[in-house]
Amino acid sequence: MEPGSQIDINRLPRHVAIIMDGNGRWAKAHGKPRVFGHRNGVKSVREVTEAAAEIGIQYLTLYAFSTENWNRPATEVNALMSLLVQTIRKEIRTLQENQIRLQTIGDCSRLPKKTAAALEEAIEATRHNERMTLILALNYSAKWEITEATRKIAKHIADASMLPEQITEQTIAEHLNTAGIPDPELLIRTSGETRISNFLLWQIAYSELVFTPVMWPDFRRQHFQEALLDYQHRERRFGKTSDQLSSQNV
Ligand code: IPE
Ligand code: IPE
Ligand code: MG
Repeated sequence: MEPGSQIDINRLPRHVAIIMDGNGRWAKAHGKPRVFGHRNGVKSVREVTEAAAEIGIQYLTLYAFSTENWNRPATEVNALMSLLVQTIRKEIRTLQENQIRLQTIGDCSRLPKKTAAALEEAIEATRHNERMTLILALNYSAKWEITEATRKIAKHIADASMLPEQITEQTIAEHLNTAGIPDPELLIRTSGETRISNFLLWQIAYSELVFTPVMWPDFRRQHFQEALLDYQHRERRFGKTSDQLSSQNV
C-alpha cells in the first residue's frame, strides 16, 4: 500500500524539521562536483514542501546552511549562496500559489547582501499566506541561538525589567528565533548520519527522530510520507508509562 494512504491526517505533527544531508556524497556517487548535488537537492526541497503543504503540515523547517558550513571551501559556499538567491527568486510564485509563508531562522545579517535581499523580498511577499509556514535555517546554529537568547534575557535583568526568578522555560522559548512556533514533533535527517549537528537543540527536547539512509537529492514525497507513518507508529510518552497513556485514551 502507498504510505500516503495510511497516514492518519488527524494525528499529523504540526511541525516537521529536516536536516537535509547527503548532497555531496550523492554528487560524488554520480561522478559529479558537489554543487551538482546541491542543485538536485533543490528538487527535493520543492517536492517535500509541496507534499507537506498538501497533507496539512503547518510548519516545515529546513536546515539549509549551518554556521559551521562557512568552514567549507569558498567556492562551495559561494555556489550555495547563489543557488539560494536563484531558487528563492524562482520559487516566489510557487510559494504564492501554494499559499506558503516563508520565514528564516539564523543570523541572516551575515549572509551576502544579494542573498539577504532576495530572502527579505520573499518573506515580505509571502507574509500573509496561511496554509503552511516554510522556515529556512540559514547561518543557523542552536548554540548561537541559545547564546543570543541568553544575552537578550540578561539585558532585561540588567535594566531591571525582569527579575531572575521570573525566568521560565517560556521566557527562554520566547527569546529564541522560533518564538511563537510550536516545537517540532518530528525531526528527519537524511543520508544515514545520526547526529544533530547543532540544529534546534532546545526545540527538539521531545521530538521523535527519524534517520533515513536516503541522500537528500533522492528524498521524495514517498520518503516524507514514510517518515510521517514512522512517527505515527511511535508512542509519545513524555515521561509517563505506556499503561497510563492507554488508560487516558479510553
Ligand atoms: C547537505 O549536504 C547540504 C548542506 C550542508 C548545505 P552536504 O553538502 O552536507 O552533503 P554531504 O554530507 O557532504 O554528502
Ligand atoms: C548539517 O549538515 C547542516 C545542514 C544540513 C545545513 P552537515 O553536513 O554540515 O553536518 P555535519 O558537519 O556532517 O555534521
Ligand atoms: Mg553533510
